[in-house]
Amino acid sequence: MKPIQVGLLGIGTVGSGVFHVLQRNQEEIRRRAGRGIQITAVADLDTARARSIVGESARVLADGRELIADPDIDVVVELIGGYGVARTLVLEAIAAGKHVVTANKALLAVHGTEIFQAAAERGVIVAFEASVAGGIPIIKALREGLTANQIQWLAGIINGTTNFILSEMRDKGLDFDVVLKEAQRLGYAEADPTFDIEGVDAAHKATIMSAIAFGVPVQFDKAYVEGITQLSAADIRYAEQLGYRIKLLGITRRRPEGIELRVHPSLVPAKRLIANVEGAMNAVVVHGDAVGTTLYYGKGAGSEPTASAVIADLVDIARLEGADAAHRVPPLAFQSHTLATAGSALPVLPMSEVVTSYYLRARVADEAGVLAKITGVLANAGISIDAVLQREADEVGGEGSTQTDVIILTHDTREGDMDAALAQIQQLPTVLAPITRIRKEELN
Ligand code: HSE
Repeated sequence: MKPIQVGLLGIGTVGSGVFHVLQRNQEEIRRRAGRGIQITAVADLDTARARSIVGESARVLADGRELIADPDIDVVVELIGGYGVARTLVLEAIAAGKHVVTANKALLAVHGTEIFQAAAERGVIVAFEASVAGGIPIIKALREGLTANQIQWLAGIINGTTNFILSEMRDKGLDFDVVLKEAQRLGYAEADPTFDIEGVDAAHKATIMSAIAFGVPVQFDKAYVEGITQLSAADIRYAEQLGYRIKLLGITRRRPEGIELRVHPSLVPAKRLIANVEGAMNAVVVHGDAVGTTLYYGKGAGSEPTASAVIADLVDIARLEGADAAHRVPPLAFQSHTLATAGSALPVLPMSEVVTSYYLRARVADEAGVLAKITGVLANAGISIDAVLQREADEVGGEGSTQTDVIILTHDTREGDMDAALAQIQQLPTVLAPITRIRKEELN
C-alpha cells in the first residue's frame, strides 16, 4: 500500500523528533501500521533550519498554506503551538480534507469544540495524544483502555517545569524565585514561564482529560487555575513534617452535582506513588469504578517522547485511512451524538462548591488562647480538624521570638465554607499575616 504522506507545520524540537524517530524506526512502524509513513513536506519560517533537519528527503516551505494546499498530503501535523495561526491552519487543513495530528493543548482546550465539530463535518480525524503528558499514552488509556469504566476522578502531575521547581525547592530548601532562576538557567523553564508556573498549561491538559473522562465538552474557561508562585519553602517543609509532599495537580472529579476541574498546588501523602514523581517527569492517576486506581508515568515533554505520541497518532490514522468515520474511535471517547453539550452536560462546579481537605498555616502571636480561637472558628463553621502542628517560636522567628506558626490539617470541607471561616480567622488580632491555604488530596 502507498505510504501515507505527512506534512509538518513547524519543525522545532518536537518536529525534528518526529522526523528522526520515523526514520530510525521506519521498518517497525511500517509493519505495525500496515503501510509506510512518510514526511513529504515541512513548513517552517526558518527554512534553513528545516532543510538542515530533513535534508533532501522532503519539500521545505515557508508557508503553511502551501503545504495544506498540496493534494498529495494526507495528514497535517500541527506543531506550531498557541491559539492564533495554529487555529487558522488547523481549520484550513480540516476544510481541505486532511487528517490533523496536533500536540497543541492550548488550542484544543480553548477551541476544541469548534475543531472537533469541523472535523466531524468533513469526515477527518483530529488526533492529539501528544497534547497531554507528552510521551505518556494517557489519551489512549482514558479513551480506549478504560472504556468499560465510569471514570470517577483523575489527578495528574502534568507540567514538568513546575514539578522540577517543586522538587528542587524540597530537595534544597530554597524559595520559589531562586529555583525558578536556576531552572531557567538550566533550560528547564522557559524565558517566559508564565503558562507553566501559573498553572495554565496544566489546566489546558486537565481540561482535555476531563472532557474525555466524563463525555463533556472542553471547557477551559470554567477551570479553576492556581499556580505555584506563592508557595514558600516553609510550607514544603511543614508538609514534609506532616507526611505530605506538595505537587501541582490537575484534578477532575465527577460528583452527582457536577464536575470539579481545577489546577492548584496540593498536599499529597508522601506514601503515594505520585508524590514521589520528581523532576520534570509527569504522572496521572485515574480512578475508574471497575478498574480501581491506575497510574501512568513518563516524560511529559521533550523531542522524542513527544514524537512518540505524535507518531502513535500517525499510525492510528494510517490504519484507519479509508475506513468509514463511524468505525473510528471518537476523539473525545464518547460518540459525538451522545456527547452532552455545554448547556445540558453535568456543569463544571464553581470553586466554592469543590469539596476537599486543607492545609492552613497562620503566623500568630505566641500567646495563651490563640489556637483555641482559631479552632473555635473552624468548629463553628462545621470544619473538622485532622491534625495540628505548632512550632517553637524560637524555631520560627529566631531566639526570643514572640511569633509562631500554627499549621492545621482539616478533613473534607466545602471550599465556600472554608473561605468564610478563613475570612473570620484572618480578622483575629493575634493572626499576624495572611493565612496560607493549600488544598490537600488523599488520592485514595
Ligand atoms: N511546558 C510543559 C511542561 C511541556 O513543562 O510540562 C509541554 O506541555
